[in-house]
Amino acid sequence: MLEGKKILITGGTGSLGQALTKRLLEFDVDTIRILSRNESKQVQMSSEFSDTRLRFLIGDIRDKERLIKSMEDIDIVFHAAALKHVPIIEYNPFEAIKTNVVGSQNVIDASLIQDVEKVICIGTDKAVSPLNTYGATKLLMEKLFISANNYLNIDKSRTKFFAVRYGNVFGSSGSVIPIFLEQAKNNKKITITNEAMTRFSITMDQALDFILDCTINGKAAEIYVPKIKGYSISQIKDVFQESFDNCEIENIGIRPGEKLHEILINEEEMRYCWDLENKFMISNPSVKDDDIIKSYNSNIKKNSNLTSYTSENTEKLSSEEIKKLILEFEK
Ligand SMILES: NC(=O)c1ccc[n+]([C@@H]2O[C@H](COP(=O)([O-])OP(=O)(O)OC[C@H]3O[C@@H](n4cnc5c(N)ncnc54)[C@H](OP(=O)(O)O)[C@@H]3O)[C@@H](O)[C@H]2O)c1
Repeated sequence: MLEGKKILITGGTGSLGQALTKRLLEFDVDTIRILSRNESKQVQMSSEFSDTRLRFLIGDIRDKERLIKSMEDIDIVFHAAALKHVPIIEYNPFEAIKTNVVGSQNVIDASLIQDVEKVICIGTDKAVSPLNTYGATKLLMEKLFISANNYLNIDKSRTKFFAVRYGNVFGSSGSVIPIFLEQAKNNKKITITNEAMTRFSITMDQALDFILDCTINGKAAEIYVPKIKGYSISQIKDVFQESFDNCEIENIGIRPGEKLHEILINEEEMRYCWDLENKFMISNPSVKDDDIIKSYNSNIKKNSNLTSYTSENTEKLSSEEIKKLILEFEK
């Protein structure tokens, strides 16, 4: 499905964008356009990748005209550009609205104008029953993507919009692992928010497998959620104390806008949730069950468990698994 495709990644210089670019280059894709604002990050990425199929486009997703030009002849758009740091967004909420909400609408409008085949936005567990502005803006991004299919003229347009939603990418920029590692290696105290806190965990490789699986098999107007494990902050603390001599702890408390536990699917969404073996699919409430079953050739069943899917009730990683992940991240 990816062979010969022209692809655009908004936010292509970020943690996910770079990993996705690397993965996509393993296929016989025609071109990958990277769209982001900071030229230094693009220069660095271009020298690290050095592949003639890559194009670097300076642009801001707040600028619709730029997006329309950047999507000429594009088949697939991965929309990864976002402001994502919770405390920064709590302090500058309107900037996040401009990028994560207005920018996402611009991505939708430009994709429709350029008749892009598939447009996939990258969502987060923080968008579910959101407590902070980041989560609220990403919830709106998902809503815009799911309802974008309503604008389609089915006879004229081929564009399919859908969302993937997952939890913290282990070791990605801003996550606790790089912060704790830096603190432990420099003999600083590691800064624990709350030992009872839990989070979902997905590795970058798992996230990429999941995104590509959904890109190939996704229909339209759906949110896909992977079945993933979680961890508690006390587990991470224990692993660090076992692995580093004299690793001391500083309890800093939960930061404004942070939840004790994250939710990937809340109780209300569970009513529209379908089990697809390795993942869940949350359908558009306006689509009839029979039509969904038909479009999946009956290889799908409605979820019977209506309890929310949270980082507290999901299976936890073992200490050995956490140690292995930290070792792999350090390499
Ligand atoms: N990391 C996680 O744990 C995680 C979990 C779930 C979902 N997600 C979602 O996955 C996506 C990627 O996350 P990430 O970890 O790769 O983030 P990241 O490392 O912070 O990368 C963000 C990218 O977006 C670009 N960007 C920001 N504002 C932009 C704008 N206005 N116009 C164009 N480009 C812009 C940045 O480059 P410039 O600053 O140069 O523009 C950068 O390339 C985000 O949508 C995030 O919400 C992340």
